[in-house]
Amino acid sequence: MPGHLRCQFRGVYLLLFLLIEQQWRAILKHSSTTEVSNTPQATLHSKRTVATTTRFAYAFLVAGCDPARPAYRPFLSNIAVATRLLAQHGSQAEVIVLVQMDFRSPYETLPENDLFLLLSSSSLRVHIHYIPKTPFQSYYRTQFDKFRILNFTQYDQGILFMDADVMPLTNLDYLFSLSTTDDRIKDNWVVAGPIAPANGGFFLLRPTPGAFERVAALLREQTTSHNRTRLFDSIQGWGHAVGPSDYWETRTGKRGREWTFYAAHADQGFLYHWVKYEQKNVTIVVGATVQNWGCCDEHGQVQLESTFPLRDFDLHSTNHTVSWQRKPPPTCWSVPRKECLPIYGDFIHFGGKRKPWMKPPPSNLTRATQWDSPNHLWYRTFWEINSELGLNLTASEWLTPEDPPLGLKPGKRQAFQGPPIELSR
Ligand SMILES: *[C@@H]1O[C@H](CO)[C@@H](O)[C@H](O)[C@H]1NC(C)=O
Ligand SMILES: *[C@@H]1O[C@H](CO)[C@@H](O)[C@H](O)[C@H]1NC(C)=O
Ligand SMILES: *[C@@H]1O[C@H](CO)[C@@H](O)[C@H](O)[C@H]1NC(C)=O
Ligand SMILES: *[C@@H]1O[C@H](CO)[C@@H](O)[C@H](O)[C@H]1NC(C)=O
Ligand SMILES: *[C@@H]1O[C@H](CO)[C@@H](O)[C@H](O)[C@H]1NC(C)=O
Ligand SMILES: *[C@@H]1O[C@H](CO)[C@@H](O)[C@H](O)[C@H]1NC(C)=O
Repeated sequence: MPGHLRCQFRGVYLLLFLLIEQQWRAILKHSSTTEVSNTPQATLHSKRTVATTTRFAYAFLVAGCDPARPAYRPFLSNIAVATRLLAQHGSQAEVIVLVQMDFRSPYETLPENDLFLLLSSSSLRVHIHYIPKTPFQSYYRTQFDKFRILNFTQYDQGILFMDADVMPLTNLDYLFSLSTTDDRIKDNWVVAGPIAPANGGFFLLRPTPGAFERVAALLREQTTSHNRTRLFDSIQGWGHAVGPSDYWETRTGKRGREWTFYAAHADQGFLYHWVKYEQKNVTIVVGATVQNWGCCDEHGQVQLESTFPLRDFDLHSTNHTVSWQRKPPPTCWSVPRKECLPIYGDFIHFGGKRKPWMKPPPSNLTRATQWDSPNHLWYRTFWEINSELGLNLTASEWLTPEDPPLGLKPGKRQAFQGPPIELSR
């Protein structure tokens, strides 16, 4: 597209976008739901115009955004890929993207081309919500911003949070359906990983009234006493010593009582504490078994109420476009040599340096090879968005071996630096 046409096109888009946003605000005003945010907000670009909001949403978080240093961009692209795959498989959900601009950046919002990518990559309605900048930015602190999803109480059937390097492989709406219609499933879901009882990169929480305020207070309280002279307490954890009849369990069957599992001092520990010892209401998928924890035994402690095999889920009984139908591949990428169970087989988490954009695209990528590997699917979907939106990106512009702006994992030294963690801003 020639430059001037492209500009016009953008102008038209912006206008359209503002119009739709106005309509959206009007809809919100007339509905009983609360408005998503009062900070600069970009809202929706939907090919299907739906008059009502859904009561469930997917959420992503990207921090350290600075248009001058584009290492954050692949994460936005991953969100676009994720949203498109969800939509292609029939999702009806809305999408929340929490964005925090880098403290060092003069920009207060994402540039228009980033918004265009996020809002136009699928038929799903995408809401951008800006988190205030903070001079105390770090990977560690950013992980707690995930819990801001609890403030979006209009999604009272749940919000599924995914890290910005997670790629869903199917429509995950069935998790909301099960959580609202199946008596054996609790309000909150977490998934045990190989080295932690709760994966902080993929979880579903119910944003009930007051939950966000409680999380914010708890985080503030717990991180006030954690200063540089006091390390994370592996017995008390986030405020609860695990009792003798209780335990945590990883996907590989390792059990423990101390808060020593991976990222116990960070988001994973806090998530586990929140669903199990604050909400006392959680379904935990541990390998091939589903565990339900609820309140309470004779001593007032959370207890294991029931377990059942993961394959017993009735995945066809709900009204959302459920059907847990994996397209190819026949093998399960994320669970090598094992059958593809729901949930574990439903997404790929590109942890650490395994991110597709840190390597060149597969050289044999075609429609026929799109299922050869997660990277094939990722690039195939990205090129589709690229050509549909006329982004005109080439592989060489695209490839970024650079580390993400806030690094790849929470450094131990980041943990207790800075003032208490404060979400209520
Ligand atoms: C726990 O979740 C179940 C099902 O999601 C719900 O019926 C129940 O009221 C919840 N209990 C508490 C104590 O919140
Ligand atoms: C930091 O730790 C020291 C020593 O435990 C304690 O005296 C002080 O009150 C703590 N500061 C805060 C802000 O919690
Ligand atoms: C599914 O939809 C039908 C008709 O729209 C409704 O009668 C039924 O109650 C719904 N079932 C569930 C489980 O929501
Ligand atoms: C394409 O390349 C991948 C490795 O990136 C390989 O596993 C796969 O077999 C190749 N597919 C074909 C059809 O050559
Ligand atoms: C798009 O890519 C082509 C080929 O690389 C190039 O000639 C053209 O100038 C690009 N257009 C824009 C608007 O960047
Ligand atoms: C939480 O939501 C309420 C209602 O929409 C809003 O007024 C408030 O600013 C939000 N708080 C944060 C920290 O986003």
